Amino acid sequence: MSIVDRLPSADLSQLRRDFPILRQQVHGKPLVYLDNAATTQKPQVVIDRLSRYYAEENSNIRRGLHALGDRATDAYERARDTVRRFLNADDNREIIFVRGVTEAINLVAQTYGRTHVGPGDEIVISEMEHHSNILPWQVLCDEKGARLRVIPITDAGELCLDRYEQLLSDRTRIVAVTHVSNALGTINPVAEIVRRAHARDIPVLVDGAQAPGHGGVDVQALACDFYAFSGHKVFGPTGIGVLYGRARLLDAMPPYQVGGGTISSVTFEHTGYTEPPGRFEAGTPHVAGAVGLAAAIEYLTAVGLERVEAYERALLTYAAGALSHVPGLRFTGMARDKAGILAFVMEGVHPHDIATIVDRAGVAIRAGHHCCQPLMARLGVPATARASLALYNTREEIDVLASALAEAREVFT
Ligand SMILES: Cc1ncc(COP(=O)(O)O)c(C=O)c1O
Repeated sequence: MSIVDRLPSADLSQLRRDFPILRQQVHGKPLVYLDNAATTQKPQVVIDRLSRYYAEENSNIRRGLHALGDRATDAYERARDTVRRFLNADDNREIIFVRGVTEAINLVAQTYGRTHVGPGDEIVISEMEHHSNILPWQVLCDEKGARLRVIPITDAGELCLDRYEQLLSDRTRIVAVTHVSNALGTINPVAEIVRRAHARDIPVLVDGAQAPGHGGVDVQALACDFYAFSGHKVFGPTGIGVLYGRARLLDAMPPYQVGGGTISSVTFEHTGYTEPPGRFEAGTPHVAGAVGLAAAIEYLTAVGLERVEAYERALLTYAAGALSHVPGLRFTGMARDKAGILAFVMEGVHPHDIATIVDRAGVAIRAGHHCCQPLMARLGVPATARASLALYNTREEIDVLASALAEAREVFT
């Protein structure tokens, strides 16, 4: 049973007891897991929910003319409803289960994109995008003879909104931007980005991979047209994610993959496709994943989204202070509005060496290009090191990271 209800204060660090993986030691030291932007750990309630699904409810969905089939279908559709409420979407038809953000963006590029983008058209993305929000558009542009336009960023790691405005034109067919940068931590002003695009009737896709695990997301307040997130980054299972799409747009989109579940009728000559969301969920979906994701969302909601956001903000401030005392360390990404992601380089030490050395102290951080090679080029570095926070991290863990970093610096200088 979770301790969420018994939490006395804004201190969420006690929540770590809900996450069994965090109890282990690595290289003889307590695990300090600070790679949450890559994937988050799972609370016991999610692990138990997956186990209960397979022990008591597993069946194929939709096709069941039996009790178990109904139970699994119910669980799957209830999970959809949980996601809809989490995103504050209007209608369950707007919630499509996919494998994750990468699949969601490919889906939009290959369906909405293919039908709306033609030769000479333009797609606007930003300089801080993850490869998953670059490549699907690049492929589409190559296929259609269209052009990618890129919003530049400032040295602090914020989008240049003036330049964005100038990039929008009669040729722009879609804007696709990240909500929170996985490599900088920047929180982008999505509502403003959407407002400016909508003034020209241009739809906006938001890559929400790094946002929903750290506070609430309201797709109606953002007014975006598509929003994608991955279950594994919000304390849920891998292999499941969500594409939110405005009903009016989804209704007019052709299917992405085709097969069982997507059709209304089939002959050898012709196929009629069903309504969303079924039209976009070909084959047997990841039912257990959807159910596990719903359990993760319920957990997060029970903790309190505002509480999580406030806790992580305070922890980020503490971490920025602690790391700023490490000799030779320089942050990359100093946006005014930032999520719990600290990326940095260290004079004289390669990021991979930093990660390897702190690993010996039990600390898991990430180093590399973070699937953002064009951003690394803009920053003028091949790679950075990155510590990323979640609700179960503590100040004590930040202290362990800071001293491990100081040690790494000593080893190499
Ligand atoms: C900003 C951003 N976009 C997209 C992705 C891709 O997510 P997934 O691998 O879950 O599809 C990630 C993953 O790290 C990300 O951080």
